[in-house]
Amino acid sequence: MKDQLNWGILGTGMIADKFASHLPQSNTGKLVAVGSRSQQSATVFAAKHGGCGHQGYEALIADPDVHVVYNCLPNGLHHEWSIKAMRAGKHVLCEKPFALNRGEAEQMFAVAEETGKVLVEAFMYRAHARTQELIKRVHSGEIGELRLMRSNFTFYREPSMDDARYHPSQGGGAIMDVGTYCVNFMRQLAGAEPTEMHALAHLYQDGGVDDYVAGTLRFGEDLLATFTCGMTVESDEGTYIAGTKGTIKVNAFWFCEEGFMITKDGVEEWVEVEEKRPLYAVEADSFAATVLQGEAAWVSKEDTLGNMRVMDALRASAGVPVE
Ligand SMILES: NC(=O)c1ccc[n+]([C@@H]2O[C@H](COP(=O)([O-])OP(=O)(O)OC[C@H]3O[C@@H](n4cnc5c(N)ncnc54)[C@H](OP(=O)(O)O)[C@@H]3O)[C@@H](O)[C@H]2O)c1
Repeated sequence: MKDQLNWGILGTGMIADKFASHLPQSNTGKLVAVGSRSQQSATVFAAKHGGCGHQGYEALIADPDVHVVYNCLPNGLHHEWSIKAMRAGKHVLCEKPFALNRGEAEQMFAVAEETGKVLVEAFMYRAHARTQELIKRVHSGEIGELRLMRSNFTFYREPSMDDARYHPSQGGGAIMDVGTYCVNFMRQLAGAEPTEMHALAHLYQDGGVDDYVAGTLRFGEDLLATFTCGMTVESDEGTYIAGTKGTIKVNAFWFCEEGFMITKDGVEEWVEVEEKRPLYAVEADSFAATVLQGEAAWVSKEDTLGNMRVMDALRASAGVPVE
């Protein structure tokens, strides 16, 4: 048990499949169970990835072999099932966005404290050494004082009401699905919480979720940031950071596929940080380091609560339907 964590996964969706396919390449993680609304999905998933396939989420969190539950259900089920899992004695890695709003997030952390369980938001890109190197360089003043940032995360997928992302009651919408990464990254880079937050949203349909959004953040007097995010639009996934002494450009950062470019005095430096493990294996090992070695989580409680505060304000500013 000292160097291994047994994982149980809630749901058999897209990211559950990805996480399970990376987990065997981690140093510490083993998949022991999955829980699904349908026995058939659980059985198919377990046949592909290993472990036991449970019908129902209750059965998964009650499984005595499971040490940690990966909650990758739709956003509207993060609060309920993370709390139930912790009360059943499990640590929880909970997908982003952590909850439907900051109030829910506070309740989840209160249960973590009460039960003594580890609870972390699954911003996988933050667990990667390359992201940590970039943030360290910005904080060390390598490009001077930050002045402007712009960050982007969009994708195009055919809209479907079978997808929880299109349901306001499930915390759907582009701000919640992908804007949350831009907000998280820029807050980290700023090393501060924004003092002003605004967003303009395009609604997928009347009363529907925001399917693409443009937003602005101000951090104190000197640092301004913009972001765009969307679920029905193709564009790049870049972030551009401009300071008084230089710039940093990252192209495809969210899945940690490549390094980043620092430009200072007209000289370019390409920064790579080698990591052999796939992204979700890195995340699983980071979670294990927190549980088994007591290391600080790569995303703190304060960080998650700060992010949720901004998400709440942006959605209110954009007039997005919230249930
Ligand atoms: N960190 C990342 O890289 C990343 C990437 C993508 C998504 N995410 C996050 O992970 C979560 C899941 O996203 P996903 O893309 O994996 O979603 P998905 O493919 O739709 O899977 C969600 C799963 O949740 C279960 N579920 C329970 N109630 C549901 C409902 N009312 N509607 C739809 N599914 C329901 C289903 O599993 P069963 O039928 O087996 O019960 C379903 O397969 C979201 O919070 C999302 O923001 C994170």
